[in-house]
Amino acid sequence: MSATCVIGLQWGDEAKGKIVDWLTQDHDVIIRYNGGSNAGHTVVKEQKTYKFSLVPTGILWPNRVAVLGCGVVIHPKALIQEIDSLKSNGCNPGSSLKISDRAHVIFPYHFQEEQLAEQASSRGQQEAIGTTLRGIGPCYADKVGRRHAIRLGELANPQRFHDRLVEIVEFKNRYIQAVWPESQALNPEAIFEEYCDYFSTIEPYVTDTTALLHQLWDSGKNFLFEGAQGSLLDIDHGTYPYVTSSNSSVGGIASGTGIPERNIDECIGIIKAYTTRVGGGPFPTELHDSTGDLIRKTGKEFGTVTGRPRRCGWFDAVAARYTTKLNGVDALSVMLLDVLSELDELKICTAYEYEGNRIEQFPGSIDVLEKCTPVYQTLPGWRKDIQDIRTLTDLPSEARRYLDTITACLETPLKLVSVGPDRKQTIPIV
Ligand code: GDP
Ligand code: IMO
Ligand code: MG
Repeated sequence: MSATCVIGLQWGDEAKGKIVDWLTQDHDVIIRYNGGSNAGHTVVKEQKTYKFSLVPTGILWPNRVAVLGCGVVIHPKALIQEIDSLKSNGCNPGSSLKISDRAHVIFPYHFQEEQLAEQASSRGQQEAIGTTLRGIGPCYADKVGRRHAIRLGELANPQRFHDRLVEIVEFKNRYIQAVWPESQALNPEAIFEEYCDYFSTIEPYVTDTTALLHQLWDSGKNFLFEGAQGSLLDIDHGTYPYVTSSNSSVGGIASGTGIPERNIDECIGIIKAYTTRVGGGPFPTELHDSTGDLIRKTGKEFGTVTGRPRRCGWFDAVAARYTTKLNGVDALSVMLLDVLSELDELKICTAYEYEGNRIEQFPGSIDVLEKCTPVYQTLPGWRKDIQDIRTLTDLPSEARRYLDTITACLETPLKLVSVGPDRKQTIPIV
């Protein structure tokens, strides 16, 4: 038995989905441990595109167990829609999908709270976080607050679920209307009916996944943990408060699944060959010029979940070195290298300048990060299409030099290079 984890080292969308799909060939159990339908993971297989939000990407392979651990937050409607869309795409999750009875449930008041808070902060002092508006933050806040949270397993007892839900919705209506008097009150009975319907559809998948994972581990199965978001969006270690509400780095695995971190043999850090970010918050290497536009256009950098244009910039080795250490990364997968093929020269940020001083450590405070300007190393581009290349030695020497510079900055070896979205456009490093 072995356990591997796939962790994004930037601000999400590093192409984790493609690598999880690639690695599933050697794994039996694929586990999501954090986030919810704020994630959007893409797999391209034989020219067909699959988009995953909640369902683990590994479900595309036959005879795998795909688990949503206790650390995931679930909007049942989004889950059912995703399962239906997978079925219509020829992939039936059937008995492969297992969902933790401890996972927390997202309700309509979570969406309402998030929308109102984001609108209010965009009018106030602080920039809006720019969330995906999927109810993620308010659901995790209720989970930690305990009084107003409902776990998936509780829906199996309709009477108790009804009574708790009515109490919670009445409280939320009072609270939301006190802060935002123009908001509409929600109807607890209607929500109860709606969620009982959802539960009857997903109940066959709901189980004690912690016990199941222990059993699968003891029987020698290979585990693959599929991180959502990126480490710079981690609630504790990211660019707070412009982060998501869960531990998206390796630290979330043990709490989000019930499998101890010491069981993990290999941590694979996923990076784009450049950097992107969606939503608000500092981004020192962001490009506001035609190069940024070219990267966005070539990399099709528009959000999988919200369709928002992603902010694009040069590779930030200061930030990635920090997240490499944070996660104890053993090997790197460098993704979307082909996107840089049209550029004459490339830049890698190797340090920041802050108040006249050079710093190489990623700052813990965004007040500092906002004032950091990047110090760049400039490298020549390769100006060749590399999408059909399948070995490292066949890559142009400039591309190899670019990769060598990244691995040297991160002091971590390379495991994979990706030169296109398709499963087969992958260069394993042997
Ligand atoms: P994730 O959230 O980390 O799984 O990443 P997303 O799926 O949100 O975004 C990555 C995007 O890049 C998807 O559209 C992938 O199909 C695409 N992609 C993955 N690898 C490559 C690559 O090597 N080259 C190019 N051009 N696109 C890629
Ligand atoms: P994957 O798994 C990129 C960003 C949002 C926002 C912040 C908080 O596809 O890499 P949230 O809705 O989580 O409260 O939003 O986090 N964000 C992501 N950015 N990829 C993601 O997931 C993201 N999930 C959340 O844009 O800035
Ligand atoms: Mg994504």
